[in-house]
Amino acid sequence: MTQSASSHPVGIIGGTGLTSLSELTIVGEESVSTAWGEPSDKLVHGRLGDQAVVFLARHGNPHRIPPHQVNYRANLQALYNAGARTVVGVNAVGGIHHQMGPAHVVIPHQLIDYTWGRASTFFEGDLEHVTHIDFTHPYDLAGRELLIAAACELQLGFSDFGVYGATQGPRLETAAEIARMERDGCDLVGMTGMPEAVLAAELGMRYLCLGLVVNWAAGKSDHIITMAEIDEAIEQGMTGIKRILERSMAGLGQLSPLPTSS
Ligand code: HPA
Repeated sequence: MTQSASSHPVGIIGGTGLTSLSELTIVGEESVSTAWGEPSDKLVHGRLGDQAVVFLARHGNPHRIPPHQVNYRANLQALYNAGARTVVGVNAVGGIHHQMGPAHVVIPHQLIDYTWGRASTFFEGDLEHVTHIDFTHPYDLAGRELLIAAACELQLGFSDFGVYGATQGPRLETAAEIARMERDGCDLVGMTGMPEAVLAAELGMRYLCLGLVVNWAAGKSDHIITMAEIDEAIEQGMTGIKRILERSMAGLGQLSPLPTSS
């Protein structure tokens, strides 16, 4: 059967500060299990405007699973099984680039992976052949254009570029680690961008990141990082993230599934 693009719900993975999406008209919740175990929380099926959406809280709701213990494989597989072929990951991040201070919205275009010890591929175990997927562009190019257009229309201050450095956590970085990441070319730092992006790619899904800067990265300001600062930036910036999601949803739902995805 040939499915039309709009019959696929868009997956949204909410991170720190986005454990639920009140703008969603909820049509049902579903506890699911996958071959890789259980996802972080129930899938919430709903509509954002006219677009069908499946929402998943990356850290559970309430927020209880640390970044290095998220079952990323189960999360992506659950969204895939629910029909999603495009996924937007919302990520709280630290700002390294001088334009990317607290409450700033970023639509990254590249990433560097510094995580270790995480289950980061579906292609292991009892394999018939070894698979190396192309990962040149970790964030879907067509989808990024839609997010960028939505942010422009809303006249939000945002950055349409950014190299996301994914660190292991759960601790924050040292100033020297951030200085090294900056030399590497990272603009942002977060703990959840990988392996989420690569697992989506392995499933043939379009994957996008919508980043909200919640603190200056270590050594980038004259003070240490506090939860109060992070909470304040989430309070200020999450409305913009939600408005971009609402505005871009119909377009994201119309994107055709990638040819590799069934
Ligand atoms: N470092 C890593 N992850 C983060 C940060 C940070 O400064 N802020 C939010 N997530």
